[in-house]
Amino acid sequence: MSLTQNIEDILSVQAKSTPPSMIRAILKAMQDNEIISFAGGMPNPISFPEKELSKSMQNVVEKYGSKVFQYSITAGLPMLREFIAERFNKRFNLGITKENIIITTGSQQALDLLAKILIDKYDNILIEKPGYLGAIQAFSQYQPDFIPIDLEIDGINISMLKNVLKNKKLKFGYVVPNFQNPTGISYSAEKREEFYKLIKENDFLLIEDDPYGELRFEGETLPYIAAGKIEKSVLLSSFSKTITPGMRLGCIICKNEKLLLAVNTAKEAADLHTNIFAQYVIWDYLMNNDYDVHIQKIKALYKAQSSAMVNAIKQFFPKEVTFTVPQGGMFLWVTLPQGVSAMKLFDEAINNKVAFIPGDPFYVSQRNVNALRLNYTNASLDAINEGIKRLGTILKNYV
Ligand SMILES: Cc1ncc(COP(=O)(O)O)c(C=O)c1O
Repeated sequence: MSLTQNIEDILSVQAKSTPPSMIRAILKAMQDNEIISFAGGMPNPISFPEKELSKSMQNVVEKYGSKVFQYSITAGLPMLREFIAERFNKRFNLGITKENIIITTGSQQALDLLAKILIDKYDNILIEKPGYLGAIQAFSQYQPDFIPIDLEIDGINISMLKNVLKNKKLKFGYVVPNFQNPTGISYSAEKREEFYKLIKENDFLLIEDDPYGELRFEGETLPYIAAGKIEKSVLLSSFSKTITPGMRLGCIICKNEKLLLAVNTAKEAADLHTNIFAQYVIWDYLMNNDYDVHIQKIKALYKAQSSAMVNAIKQFFPKEVTFTVPQGGMFLWVTLPQGVSAMKLFDEAINNKVAFIPGDPFYVSQRNVNALRLNYTNASLDAINEGIKRLGTILKNYV
């Protein structure tokens, strides 16, 4: 018997039921520098304040010495948690303290920990359709019954959810209320309220995942759906899109002590605590620089890139193709006419040196979907125009 067969035999049911991320496979296959890529989901390096972070690294070593290299507490650096609490209270009046916050290794770890403490096999959990594939992957490990609810231009389809709730009890819902990955859409104020009412009436927990919320370049900031209002609510945030994803700093915000204690215990088992050096460095950076000015720079760039993509789509895509116009964040979503599989266009796009992510991985079970995700944060304005022009030529042959 070969070694691979042996390993297959001993893998847990969980491991076998979690497929590898298709996006990572696509990105790995695309090593060609000539490809104009709208595929990845990476922030533009403008969001990495390299000089300032380098200075903060020195500062914390000089100021705190061995503390920045020692084991630390699971919940995370108190000063950083205080900063986060104050910022959320100022922006959204959440009424939280540092005790309501646990620093996680990116918000991706928060998804994994929440899955671990909340999901029993066959639990009904609401996700958006299409939804963030990192969440689908994290939740899949615990074999829930996914209840995908259609995403419309202003949030999930409320009547579809109402119908589901007539005969199903949900354990929790998971949504990305601002500049959703993959569609770029944001929930309207009305949908947020309607959704909140349903949550209260039907008593299920809501996880609001908000890594892009600070990156609004158009329209006004809206209150969260449930965060800060009820205890059965979890808000996830991250420094990945505003400072650096490489340091892997995110957080869980929750007013329910028991839930936070369960997260804390699961985190102890997972990694004891998030990288404490990174926590000190980001905290020092936040204390010694104007974070809002830094975020303004990112927003100005993303706004220009998003406009360039939208304008190029209007010019080069056939009229039958529709698309979302984001008010922030990093993505937009393109819908092709019925029956046209974005998966089938992918190879031709690569041959023409342009890449995107076909819609399939953002769905729990649907395949050959007629939609695709475009990222605009990592290409110059000229490259955006040229890449969309190439895609437009390919699309005209199919539509
Ligand atoms: C909706 C959503 N949640 C979570 C994450 C993970 O982010 P982090 O780098 O904080 O782990 C991402 C990353 O792309 C995302 O789009």
